[in-house]
Amino acid sequence: MDPTKFRPSSSHDGGVTTTNAGAPVWNDNEALTVGPRGPILLEDYHLIEKVAHFARERIPERVVHARGASAKGFFECTHDVSDLTCADFLRGPGARTPVIVRFSTVIHERGSPETIRDPRGFAVKFYTREGNWDLLGNNFPVFFIRDGIKFPDVIHAFKPNPRSHVQEYWRVFDFLSHHPESLHTFFFLFDDVGVPADYRHMEGFGVNTYTFVNKAGKASYVKFHWKPTCGVRCIRTDEEAALVGGRNHSHATQDLYDSIAAGSFPEWQLLVQVMDPDTEDQYDFDPLDDTKTWPEDLLPLRPVGRLVLDRNVDNFFNENEQLAFGPGLVVPGIYYSDDKMLQCRVFAYADTQRYRLGPNYLMLPVNAPRCAHHNNHYDGAMNFMHRDEEVDYYPSRHAPLRQAPPVPGRGTGPGTPTGRSGSSGGSPTRWGTQRSARS
Ligand code: HEM
Repeated sequence: MDPTKFRPSSSHDGGVTTTNAGAPVWNDNEALTVGPRGPILLEDYHLIEKVAHFARERIPERVVHARGASAKGFFECTHDVSDLTCADFLRGPGARTPVIVRFSTVIHERGSPETIRDPRGFAVKFYTREGNWDLLGNNFPVFFIRDGIKFPDVIHAFKPNPRSHVQEYWRVFDFLSHHPESLHTFFFLFDDVGVPADYRHMEGFGVNTYTFVNKAGKASYVKFHWKPTCGVRCIRTDEEAALVGGRNHSHATQDLYDSIAAGSFPEWQLLVQVMDPDTEDQYDFDPLDDTKTWPEDLLPLRPVGRLVLDRNVDNFFNENEQLAFGPGLVVPGIYYSDDKMLQCRVFAYADTQRYRLGPNYLMLPVNAPRCAHHNNHYDGAMNFMHRDEEVDYYPSRHAPLRQAPPVPGRGTGPGTPTGRSGSSGGSPTRWGTQRSARS
């Protein structure tokens, strides 16, 4: 075997403790010392490696959604949606795609209680044959703000007071009172759904408006909805939350893990609301404003598929802490819209993950696509991909790397946007004018 192609594995074939470089360790109980009572010798390489590695076990936690639990499973397309999208993984009923899902709270730290009144994150990574698609939603259908430039402010207001490190609601109310558009989400937060019973019994919503594009290039605006087949359950009173969280501050993580281990697999139905962008002016709300829901009587829910979580993670750090989602990850047939929050999110996640995990974070097994992938992004910190090409540029007469065929609705030029038919996506619209007038 070519040793440079060897991938580190967690298998312990020999059953013998070794250094990280594979040399046998003959004493893992006592440090090497000058005499029986010390001092310790610096030449005890294993001791230094062991303690130094321990000191580096933590990586920066997510700036938001630090507290979470993940599980694996599959997504199955159950309905024909080919009139809406050419996404390969939605090619027809029965098509199955592996997924990993991470549920989270938003505001508090990695070890905080899971009984906190806070939105919950619902992030799904679809490992499709055409690349990974990440759908990052919340358990509420709307968000507090409609412009990404305010995201750091709303999060700061909810995070602990920078002086005392205590979350204080006067700061939350102070910020929200300056943003009447936040009232809709505020009511979800302080309603019964503000503290979900666990992760299995909650809904999920894409919140932002995305675009489906079919084979003919026709774009439709879509809103995504996840409905749990076992119903929605919430913790209704502060007393109950104190009891549940007091007994076990990881109750939701444990519930998810135990249910899957017991063979009771959590399941959700995926539905979409669809709007023809050419008709958007008929509605008395802005379909690209994530503080608004789309009325279901006007834009009914249409079933797409089901999500089943039937496998627990094998290693929490690898498959939760190193898991990296981003709304920028889309596949042919699914695209962004001009929704200003979504546009900002397309940038923010990859940026934070380059900081949190490093520039090669998409090489980590949990984040890497399951399909063939290739480009000329070379080297960088912790690059562990074996490559032996001589051409790392494009174009070249020696290397047959080609551009992919154009994706329906996305044009061929750099940055050609999809969106309203016949528009460049950037021209002022009724909503665009209204939005800028408000801000
Ligand atoms: C412009 C507005 C937003 C910005 C700048 C933003 C930024 C971020 C950042 C920096 C993270 C941490 C990612 C990581 O370290 O891996 C994150 C996580 C997350 N965000 Fe947002 N966010 C925004 C709005 C939203 C909205 C509206 C939703 C819900 C639809 C949402 C859902 C999530 C979820 C579910 C996660 C956790 C992903 C995981 O489990 O790893 N975010 N966000």
